[in-house]
Amino acid sequence: MCLNVSHILSEFTKKRKYRYTLFMRILSGITPSGSGRLHLGNYLGAIQQFIARQQHGDELFIFVADWHALTAVHDAPQLQRNIYEVAAAYIALGLDPARTTLYRQSDIADIPELSWIFGTVASMGLLERAHAYKDKVAHGITPSVGLFTYPILMAADILIVRPDIVPVGKDQKQHIEIARDIATSFNATYGETFKLPEHEIPAEVATVPGTDGEKMSKSYGNTIDLFGTDAELKKQIMGIKTDSTPKGSPLDPDTCIVYQLYAHLATPEEKKTLADQYRRGAVGYGDAKNILLAKFHEIFDGARARFAELIAHPDEIDAIFSAGAARARTVTHTVLAEVRKKVGLTAK
Ligand code: ADP
Ligand code: TRP
Repeated sequence: MCLNVSHILSEFTKKRKYRYTLFMRILSGITPSGSGRLHLGNYLGAIQQFIARQQHGDELFIFVADWHALTAVHDAPQLQRNIYEVAAAYIALGLDPARTTLYRQSDIADIPELSWIFGTVASMGLLERAHAYKDKVAHGITPSVGLFTYPILMAADILIVRPDIVPVGKDQKQHIEIARDIATSFNATYGETFKLPEHEIPAEVATVPGTDGEKMSKSYGNTIDLFGTDAELKKQIMGIKTDSTPKGSPLDPDTCIVYQLYAHLATPEEKKTLADQYRRGAVGYGDAKNILLAKFHEIFDGARARFAELIAHPDEIDAIFSAGAARARTVTHTVLAEVRKKVGLTAK
Protein backbone atom coordinates (compact mmCIF):
# COMPACT_ATOMS: atom_id res chain seq x y z
CA MET A 1 0.00 0.00 0.00
CA CYS A 2 1.60 3.28 -0.99
CA LEU A 3 -0.48 5.48 1.35
CA ASN A 4 1.67 7.51 3.66
CA VAL A 5 -0.36 7.19 6.84
CA SER A 6 2.33 6.15 9.28
CA HIS A 7 2.87 9.54 10.88
CA ILE A 8 -0.87 10.18 11.16
CA LEU A 9 -1.29 6.80 12.80
CA SER A 10 1.55 7.27 15.24
CA GLU A 11 0.12 10.66 16.23
CA PHE A 12 -3.32 9.14 16.55
CA THR A 13 -2.02 6.35 18.75
CA LYS A 14 -0.12 8.79 20.96
CA LYS A 15 -3.07 11.12 21.33
CA ARG A 16 -5.41 8.30 22.19
CA LYS A 17 -2.87 7.02 24.70
CA TYR A 18 -3.70 3.51 23.57
CA ARG A 19 -2.39 0.94 25.93
CA TYR A 20 -3.51 -2.14 24.10
CA THR A 21 -3.00 -5.12 26.28
CA LEU A 22 -5.42 -7.48 24.56
CA PHE A 23 -6.43 -8.04 21.00
CA MET A 24 -9.96 -6.90 20.49
CA ARG A 25 -12.74 -7.80 18.12
CA ILE A 26 -13.73 -4.64 16.29
CA LEU A 27 -16.79 -4.08 14.11
CA SER A 28 -17.85 -1.08 12.07
CA GLY A 29 -19.51 -0.10 8.84
CA ILE A 30 -20.18 2.84 6.56
CA THR A 31 -23.46 3.47 4.77
CA PRO A 32 -23.03 3.88 0.99
CA SER A 33 -25.59 6.69 0.76
CA GLY A 34 -25.34 10.18 -0.78
CA SER A 35 -22.86 10.44 -3.59
CA GLY A 36 -21.01 7.42 -2.18
CA ARG A 37 -17.80 9.40 -2.24
CA LEU A 38 -15.95 9.38 1.01
CA HIS A 39 -14.62 12.60 2.46
CA LEU A 40 -11.88 13.64 4.85
CA GLY A 41 -14.33 13.48 7.80
CA ASN A 42 -15.06 9.82 7.04
CA TYR A 43 -11.35 9.09 6.89
CA LEU A 44 -10.37 10.90 10.09
CA GLY A 45 -13.54 10.01 12.01
CA ALA A 46 -13.84 6.38 10.96
CA ILE A 47 -11.47 4.66 8.52
CA GLN A 48 -8.27 5.89 10.16
CA GLN A 49 -9.34 4.19 13.37
CA PHE A 50 -10.01 0.93 11.56
CA ILE A 51 -6.56 0.99 10.02
CA ALA A 52 -4.88 1.76 13.34
CA ARG A 53 -6.66 -1.23 14.83
CA GLN A 54 -5.67 -3.45 11.91
CA GLN A 55 -2.05 -2.38 12.31
CA HIS A 56 -2.23 -3.34 15.94
CA GLY A 57 -3.36 -6.85 15.04
CA ASP A 58 -6.96 -6.66 16.25
CA GLU A 59 -9.64 -8.81 14.63
CA LEU A 60 -11.68 -6.55 12.37
CA PHE A 61 -15.13 -6.94 10.83
CA ILE A 62 -15.72 -4.02 8.51
CA PHE A 63 -18.68 -3.86 6.16
CA VAL A 64 -20.56 -1.79 3.62
CA ALA A 65 -23.99 -1.05 5.17
CA ASP A 66 -25.98 -1.33 1.94
CA TRP A 67 -29.29 -2.30 3.58
CA HIS A 68 -29.02 0.87 5.64
CA ALA A 69 -28.39 2.87 2.46
CA LEU A 70 -31.80 1.83 1.13
CA THR A 71 -33.37 4.15 3.72
CA ALA A 72 -31.89 7.06 1.74
CA VAL A 73 -31.08 5.90 -1.83
CA HIS A 74 -33.82 4.71 -4.17
CA ASP A 75 -31.78 4.75 -7.35
CA ALA A 76 -30.35 1.31 -8.20
CA PRO A 77 -27.37 2.33 -10.41
CA GLN A 78 -26.44 5.01 -7.85
CA LEU A 79 -26.53 2.50 -4.98
CA GLN A 80 -24.38 0.05 -6.98
CA ARG A 81 -21.78 2.76 -7.62
CA ASN A 82 -21.83 3.79 -3.97
CA ILE A 83 -21.31 0.24 -2.70
CA TYR A 84 -18.20 -0.25 -4.86
CA GLU A 85 -16.87 3.20 -4.00
CA VAL A 86 -17.04 2.54 -0.27
CA ALA A 87 -15.38 -0.87 -0.69
CA ALA A 88 -12.67 0.56 -2.96
CA ALA A 89 -12.07 3.36 -0.46
CA TYR A 90 -11.65 0.92 2.42
CA ILE A 91 -9.08 -1.11 0.51
CA ALA A 92 -7.29 1.84 -1.11
CA LEU A 93 -6.86 3.53 2.27
CA GLY A 94 -5.24 0.46 3.78
CA LEU A 95 -7.75 -2.13 4.93
CA ASP A 96 -6.25 -5.46 3.95
CA PRO A 97 -8.86 -8.10 3.05
CA ALA A 98 -6.38 -10.82 4.03
CA ARG A 99 -6.32 -9.53 7.60
CA THR A 100 -9.70 -7.82 7.94
CA THR A 101 -13.06 -9.46 7.29
CA LEU A 102 -14.46 -7.07 4.71
CA TYR A 103 -18.01 -7.72 3.57
CA ARG A 104 -21.25 -6.37 2.23
CA GLN A 105 -24.07 -6.31 4.78
CA SER A 106 -26.60 -7.66 2.29
CA ASP A 107 -24.55 -10.85 1.83
CA ILE A 108 -25.30 -11.84 5.43
CA ALA A 109 -28.91 -13.03 5.61
CA ASP A 110 -28.54 -13.76 9.33
CA ILE A 111 -28.58 -10.02 10.03
CA PRO A 112 -32.22 -9.27 9.05
CA GLU A 113 -33.40 -12.39 10.87
CA LEU A 114 -31.74 -11.19 14.06
CA SER A 115 -33.06 -7.70 13.39
CA TRP A 116 -36.62 -9.04 13.27
CA ILE A 117 -36.12 -10.86 16.56
CA PHE A 118 -34.68 -7.70 18.13
CA GLY A 119 -37.72 -5.76 16.93
CA THR A 120 -39.82 -7.94 19.19
CA VAL A 121 -37.86 -6.97 22.33
CA ALA A 122 -37.10 -3.30 21.51
CA SER A 123 -39.61 -0.73 22.69
CA MET A 124 -41.12 1.90 20.38
CA GLY A 125 -39.98 4.56 22.86
CA LEU A 126 -36.34 3.55 22.44
CA LEU A 127 -36.52 4.24 18.72
CA GLU A 128 -38.68 7.36 19.09
CA ARG A 129 -35.86 8.91 21.12
CA ALA A 130 -33.23 8.36 18.37
CA HIS A 131 -31.66 11.72 17.41
CA ALA A 132 -30.78 10.70 13.86
CA TYR A 133 -34.41 9.79 13.20
CA LYS A 134 -35.79 12.89 14.93
CA ASP A 135 -33.37 15.18 13.02
CA LYS A 136 -34.41 13.73 9.69
CA VAL A 137 -38.10 14.18 10.53
CA ALA A 138 -37.36 17.75 11.72
CA HIS A 139 -35.73 18.39 8.31
CA GLY A 140 -39.02 17.51 6.65
CA ILE A 141 -38.23 13.95 5.54
CA THR A 142 -41.34 11.74 5.62
CA PRO A 143 -39.96 8.75 7.49
CA SER A 144 -40.24 5.23 6.10
CA VAL A 145 -40.65 2.31 8.48
CA GLY A 146 -37.06 1.39 7.54
CA LEU A 147 -35.76 4.76 8.69
CA PHE A 148 -37.54 4.32 12.00
CA THR A 149 -36.18 0.80 12.57
CA TYR A 150 -32.68 1.68 11.30
CA PRO A 151 -31.16 1.36 14.81
CA ILE A 152 -32.56 -2.18 15.18
CA LEU A 153 -30.85 -3.30 11.98
CA MET A 154 -27.71 -1.62 13.25
CA ALA A 155 -28.00 -3.45 16.58
CA ALA A 156 -28.22 -6.72 14.62
CA ASP A 157 -25.12 -5.81 12.51
CA ILE A 158 -23.21 -5.21 15.66
CA LEU A 159 -24.39 -7.81 18.13
CA ILE A 160 -24.32 -10.73 15.68
CA VAL A 161 -20.53 -10.46 15.57
CA ARG A 162 -20.10 -10.01 19.37
CA PRO A 163 -17.51 -7.23 19.04
CA ASP A 164 -15.68 -5.66 21.97
CA ILE A 165 -15.50 -2.24 20.36
CA VAL A 166 -17.39 -0.35 17.67
CA PRO A 167 -15.33 2.61 16.42
CA VAL A 168 -17.62 5.33 15.02
CA GLY A 169 -17.93 9.07 14.74
CA LYS A 170 -19.77 11.05 17.40
CA ASP A 171 -23.02 11.10 15.40
CA GLN A 172 -23.32 7.31 15.74
CA LYS A 173 -22.86 7.16 19.50
CA GLN A 174 -26.55 6.97 20.31
CA HIS A 175 -27.01 4.09 17.86
CA ILE A 176 -24.41 2.09 19.78
CA GLU A 177 -26.21 2.91 23.02
CA ILE A 178 -29.45 1.65 21.46
CA ALA A 179 -27.66 -1.58 20.47
CA ARG A 180 -26.55 -1.95 24.09
CA ASP A 181 -30.13 -1.37 25.29
CA ILE A 182 -31.43 -3.99 22.88
CA ALA A 183 -28.77 -6.48 24.03
CA THR A 184 -29.80 -5.79 27.63
CA SER A 185 -33.50 -6.36 26.86
CA PHE A 186 -32.74 -9.57 24.98
CA ASN A 187 -30.49 -10.87 27.77
CA ALA A 188 -33.14 -9.99 30.38
CA THR A 189 -35.80 -11.87 28.44
CA TYR A 190 -33.89 -14.94 27.28
CA GLY A 191 -30.77 -15.14 29.44
CA GLU A 192 -27.21 -13.89 28.94
CA THR A 193 -26.52 -14.03 25.19
CA PHE A 194 -24.99 -10.77 23.98
CA LYS A 195 -22.05 -8.88 25.37
CA LEU A 196 -22.46 -5.10 25.47
CA PRO A 197 -20.05 -3.50 22.97
CA GLU A 198 -18.26 -0.24 23.72
CA HIS A 199 -18.19 2.60 21.24
CA GLU A 200 -14.97 4.39 20.63
CA ILE A 201 -14.79 7.98 19.47
CA PRO A 202 -11.44 9.71 19.15
CA ALA A 203 -11.91 13.03 20.96
CA GLU A 204 -9.47 14.98 18.80
CA VAL A 205 -11.33 14.15 15.58
CA ALA A 206 -14.81 14.15 17.08
CA THR A 207 -16.01 16.49 14.36
CA VAL A 208 -13.99 17.43 11.31
CA PRO A 209 -15.14 20.80 9.98
CA GLY A 210 -16.31 21.15 6.40
CA THR A 211 -15.35 23.93 4.00
CA ASP A 212 -18.00 26.19 5.57
CA GLY A 213 -17.01 25.47 9.18
CA GLU A 214 -20.04 23.25 9.90
CA LYS A 215 -19.56 19.49 10.42
CA MET A 216 -18.15 18.03 7.22
CA SER A 217 -20.97 15.94 5.78
CA LYS A 218 -22.04 14.78 2.36
CA SER A 219 -25.52 16.08 3.20
CA TYR A 220 -24.23 19.66 3.63
CA GLY A 221 -22.24 19.94 0.37
CA ASN A 222 -19.18 21.10 2.34
CA THR A 223 -16.88 18.12 1.89
CA ILE A 224 -13.30 17.62 0.82
CA ASP A 225 -13.62 14.35 -1.08
CA LEU A 226 -10.85 11.81 -0.84
CA PHE A 227 -11.29 10.47 -4.35
CA GLY A 228 -12.54 13.38 -6.48
CA THR A 229 -10.50 14.58 -9.47
CA ASP A 230 -7.53 16.89 -8.88
CA ALA A 231 -9.61 19.80 -10.20
CA GLU A 232 -12.52 19.04 -7.83
CA LEU A 233 -10.15 18.73 -4.90
CA LYS A 234 -8.52 22.04 -5.68
CA LYS A 235 -11.90 23.71 -6.01
CA GLN A 236 -13.05 22.34 -2.65
CA ILE A 237 -9.89 23.40 -0.82
CA MET A 238 -9.73 26.84 -2.46
CA GLY A 239 -13.41 27.27 -1.53
CA ILE A 240 -12.82 26.93 2.23
CA LYS A 241 -14.44 29.85 4.01
CA THR A 242 -12.02 32.39 5.52
CA ASP A 243 -12.39 35.95 6.79
CA SER A 244 -11.22 38.95 4.82
CA THR A 245 -7.95 39.68 6.66
CA PRO A 246 -5.54 40.90 3.93
CA LYS A 247 -2.29 39.10 3.18
CA GLY A 248 0.55 40.36 5.37
CA SER A 249 -1.56 40.80 8.52
CA PRO A 250 -1.26 38.32 11.40
CA LEU A 251 -3.80 35.49 11.27
CA ASP A 252 -5.19 33.36 14.08
CA PRO A 253 -4.63 29.65 13.34
CA ASP A 254 -7.05 28.59 16.08
CA THR A 255 -10.08 30.11 14.39
CA CYS A 256 -9.10 29.19 10.83
CA ILE A 257 -10.74 26.18 9.13
CA VAL A 258 -7.80 25.80 6.72
CA TYR A 259 -5.42 25.48 9.64
CA GLN A 260 -7.72 23.11 11.53
CA LEU A 261 -7.88 20.77 8.55
CA TYR A 262 -4.12 21.01 8.05
CA ALA A 263 -3.63 20.16 11.72
CA HIS A 264 -5.42 16.84 11.18
CA LEU A 265 -2.90 15.82 8.50
CA ALA A 266 0.40 17.43 9.43
CA THR A 267 3.16 16.39 11.82
CA PRO A 268 3.57 18.43 15.05
CA GLU A 269 6.58 20.26 13.56
CA GLU A 270 4.69 21.12 10.38
CA LYS A 271 1.75 22.39 12.42
CA LYS A 272 3.99 24.57 14.51
CA THR A 273 5.72 26.00 11.44
CA LEU A 274 2.40 26.96 9.83
CA ALA A 275 0.96 28.34 13.10
CA ASP A 276 4.05 30.58 13.48
CA GLN A 277 3.70 31.77 9.89
CA TYR A 278 0.03 32.60 10.56
CA ARG A 279 0.87 34.64 13.67
CA ARG A 280 3.70 36.54 11.96
CA GLY A 281 1.52 37.36 8.97
CA ALA A 282 3.99 35.47 6.80
CA VAL A 283 1.23 33.61 4.93
CA GLY A 284 -2.15 34.65 3.56
CA TYR A 285 -5.19 32.39 3.36
CA GLY A 286 -4.47 31.58 -0.30
CA ASP A 287 -0.96 30.37 0.61
CA ALA A 288 -2.33 28.31 3.50
CA LYS A 289 -4.85 26.66 1.18
CA ASN A 290 -2.05 25.72 -1.22
CA ILE A 291 -0.08 24.24 1.67
CA LEU A 292 -3.14 22.21 2.70
CA LEU A 293 -3.69 21.05 -0.89
CA ALA A 294 -0.05 19.89 -1.18
CA LYS A 295 -0.34 18.05 2.14
CA PHE A 296 -3.54 16.36 1.01
CA HIS A 297 -1.84 15.15 -2.18
CA GLU A 298 1.21 13.97 -0.23
CA ILE A 299 -0.93 11.87 2.10
CA PHE A 300 -3.62 10.57 -0.22
CA ASP A 301 -2.20 10.34 -3.75
CA GLY A 302 -1.13 6.69 -3.31
CA ALA A 303 -4.62 5.77 -2.11
CA ARG A 304 -6.21 7.82 -4.89
CA ALA A 305 -4.30 5.86 -7.56
CA ARG A 306 -5.20 2.52 -5.95
CA PHE A 307 -8.86 3.59 -5.69
CA ALA A 308 -8.98 4.37 -9.43
CA GLU A 309 -7.55 0.94 -10.21
CA LEU A 310 -10.04 -0.88 -7.98
CA ILE A 311 -13.07 0.98 -9.29
CA ALA A 312 -12.04 -0.08 -12.79
CA HIS A 313 -12.03 -3.76 -11.64
CA PRO A 314 -15.27 -4.38 -9.72
CA ASP A 315 -14.74 -8.16 -10.17
CA GLU A 316 -11.82 -7.89 -7.72
CA ILE A 317 -14.12 -6.21 -5.22
CA ASP A 318 -16.75 -8.92 -5.75
CA ALA A 319 -14.18 -11.61 -4.97
CA ILE A 320 -13.20 -9.75 -1.79
CA PHE A 321 -16.86 -9.40 -0.79
CA SER A 322 -17.58 -13.08 -1.28
CA ALA A 323 -14.53 -14.24 0.68
CA GLY A 324 -15.36 -11.74 3.46
CA ALA A 325 -19.01 -12.84 3.63
CA ALA A 326 -17.99 -16.52 3.89
CA ARG A 327 -15.72 -15.62 6.81
CA ALA A 328 -18.32 -13.41 8.51
CA ARG A 329 -20.98 -16.13 8.20
CA THR A 330 -18.91 -18.57 10.25
CA VAL A 331 -19.48 -16.19 13.17
CA THR A 332 -23.02 -15.01 12.40
CA HIS A 333 -24.38 -18.57 11.85
CA THR A 334 -23.17 -19.64 15.29
CA VAL A 335 -24.66 -16.64 17.06
CA LEU A 336 -27.97 -16.87 15.21
CA ALA A 337 -28.25 -20.63 15.91
CA GLU A 338 -27.87 -19.86 19.61
CA VAL A 339 -30.49 -17.11 19.42
CA ARG A 340 -32.96 -19.33 17.56
CA LYS A 341 -32.69 -21.86 20.37
CA LYS A 342 -32.97 -19.26 23.11
CA VAL A 343 -36.17 -17.78 21.70
CA GLY A 344 -37.72 -21.17 20.88
CA LEU A 345 -37.59 -21.15 17.09
CA THR A 346 -35.49 -24.32 17.15
CA ALA A 347 -35.19 -27.06 19.76
CA LYS A 348 -32.50 -26.68 22.42
P1 ADP B 1 -21.93 11.95 6.34
O1 ADP B 1 -22.17 12.84 7.53
O2 ADP B 1 -21.08 12.59 5.32
O3 ADP B 1 -23.24 11.40 5.78
P2 ADP B 1 -21.66 9.32 7.38
O4 ADP B 1 -22.78 9.57 8.33
O5 ADP B 1 -21.88 8.38 6.23
O6 ADP B 1 -21.11 10.71 6.86
O7 ADP B 1 -20.42 8.83 8.23
C1 ADP B 1 -19.62 7.67 8.02
C2 ADP B 1 -18.61 7.62 9.15
O8 ADP B 1 -17.74 8.78 9.11
C3 ADP B 1 -19.26 7.64 10.55
O9 ADP B 1 -18.52 6.83 11.45
C4 ADP B 1 -19.18 9.10 10.93
O10 ADP B 1 -19.24 9.29 12.30
C5 ADP B 1 -17.83 9.53 10.32
N1 ADP B 1 -17.88 10.96 9.98
C6 ADP B 1 -18.64 11.55 9.05
N2 ADP B 1 -18.45 12.89 9.01
C7 ADP B 1 -17.53 13.16 9.97
C8 ADP B 1 -16.92 14.37 10.43
N3 ADP B 1 -17.19 15.56 9.89
N4 ADP B 1 -16.04 14.28 11.45
C9 ADP B 1 -15.75 13.06 11.99
N5 ADP B 1 -16.29 11.90 11.60
C10 ADP B 1 -17.17 11.92 10.60
N1 TRP C 1 -25.14 3.91 10.67
C1 TRP C 1 -23.73 3.95 10.38
C2 TRP C 1 -23.40 5.25 9.62
O1 TRP C 1 -24.25 5.80 8.96
C3 TRP C 1 -23.31 2.77 9.55
C4 TRP C 1 -23.51 1.49 10.28
C5 TRP C 1 -24.50 0.56 10.03
C6 TRP C 1 -22.72 1.01 11.34
N2 TRP C 1 -24.35 -0.47 10.88
C7 TRP C 1 -23.30 -0.24 11.71
C8 TRP C 1 -21.62 1.52 12.03
C9 TRP C 1 -22.77 -0.98 12.76
C10 TRP C 1 -21.11 0.76 13.08
C11 TRP C 1 -21.68 -0.48 13.44
O2 TRP C 1 -22.27 5.67 9.64
